[in-house]
Amino acid sequence: MTNGDEREPPEANIKSYRQRYDTHERIPAAGRPRDAILAEMEEIASLEEERWHDGFASGSVYHGDQDHVDFLSKVYTINSQANPLHTDIWPSVVKYESEIVSMTASMLGADESGAERGTPAEICGTLSSGGTESILLAMKTYRDRAREEKGITKPNMIVPTTAHAAFHKAAQYFNIELVQIPVDADFRADVAATEEAITENTVVLVGSSPQFPHGVIDPIAELSELARSRGIGFHTDACLGGFLLPWAHRLGYDVPPFDFRLPGVTSMSADTHKYGYAAKGTSVVLYRGQDLRHYQYFTTTDWPGGLYCSPSFAGSRPGALSAACWAAMISVGEEGYLESARRILETAAKIRSGVAAIEELQLFGDSLFVSAFGSEELDIYKVMDAMAERGWSLNGLHKPACVHLCTTLRQTEPGVAERFLEDLKQSVAFVSDQPDWTGAMAPIYGMANTIPDRGVVRDALRDHMDSWYRTR
Ligand SMILES: Cc1ncc(COP(=O)(O)O)c(C=O)c1O
Repeated sequence: MTNGDEREPPEANIKSYRQRYDTHERIPAAGRPRDAILAEMEEIASLEEERWHDGFASGSVYHGDQDHVDFLSKVYTINSQANPLHTDIWPSVVKYESEIVSMTASMLGADESGAERGTPAEICGTLSSGGTESILLAMKTYRDRAREEKGITKPNMIVPTTAHAAFHKAAQYFNIELVQIPVDADFRADVAATEEAITENTVVLVGSSPQFPHGVIDPIAELSELARSRGIGFHTDACLGGFLLPWAHRLGYDVPPFDFRLPGVTSMSADTHKYGYAAKGTSVVLYRGQDLRHYQYFTTTDWPGGLYCSPSFAGSRPGALSAACWAAMISVGEEGYLESARRILETAAKIRSGVAAIEELQLFGDSLFVSAFGSEELDIYKVMDAMAERGWSLNGLHKPACVHLCTTLRQTEPGVAERFLEDLKQSVAFVSDQPDWTGAMAPIYGMANTIPDRGVVRDALRDHMDSWYRTR
């Protein structure tokens, strides 16, 4: 630690666990006593808890109060065997999931969408396992609809460069050409460039509310209207902001419409496991009308295993996570979401003005709750490394090089925002004073940003993932 306090950095390297605990490369001949397993897991969890609990992590844990975590854990325990694939055994999960979808749709403008509830045109949707799955499902849906209804066999999707990596994943998985359009100096999608990029094979346009890197909201009204005028689908990715921006709007913050109040918005993704305060593993994907949702569904009628259907990618699913998601939404309630949003937005404003006051740093983009910053004078990744030495886990971003902190309830706890700003000032001073200090991640980021052969960078990432599965 460079700030000389007593706090040990958390165990970041999984290898350190291998030195400390037994490694199991084969199923043990005799089962280990449950008490021993629980004791070991509690010890490991306690090594990791401080960092997220005390607000050192950007995003990651969006609620994290002990009583909330204990409540969700109890709900999980009650429902741990539930699997919504077997709706006859667990109709409870059908109830939870349909209500989660309905509550999310209502929060995101379904009641002002012009599409009547209870009709085939209503705003509808399904649960998924997270933001990435919601996005993958929606993109597959548009691909399949375009093939069926327009005979498009070489589909493309138009997304701003700042749209989440999940759209790249969808393009790779589903063989959809990814057309990336630039963002303006404020990091907002360029509408004119989007219009120019549309072809007869375009199946969907995308905008984010907000995008992950800088927390900036794209011009959703213009983009969705453009899509509507061309008879193309429009997806608002509100994975990050879906459960925060509606409350920000109600609190009087300037939040332009981004949801089903806009007639051109035909689908949305909104993550319950972020600002919805559910346990990790749930998100909602919504559609304008059941016809569109049908393209998401999987059915097979001739399999010897029976008539089979499933709404999303998985077959069997953890019903307990759906139950915990429902319980989170019901227990937090509108008042809880409003109060949490107020605390998060006030803390984020404090953090943003503190960052803006540090001479060597520049804030990137206008955001309500993400603070992205770069530097013209310093290597920003070294600043990120110096912050990591002080316990902080910030997100390193590139094109352009910057770093961000996404504010959650963890940073609203007393003293956390102040500690962040103090550590940031010290880190900036440290990096300014020590030009020869290399840091840990800075050289890797620097190299990854400058190597022209992206295949080399891709291979390095593959090696990195291989390392996750090595047991020695
Ligand atoms: C805007 C946006 N979209 C999609 C995602 C993907 O969500 P997940 O990590 O739950 O798959 C994220 C995650 O941060 C996000 O910020």
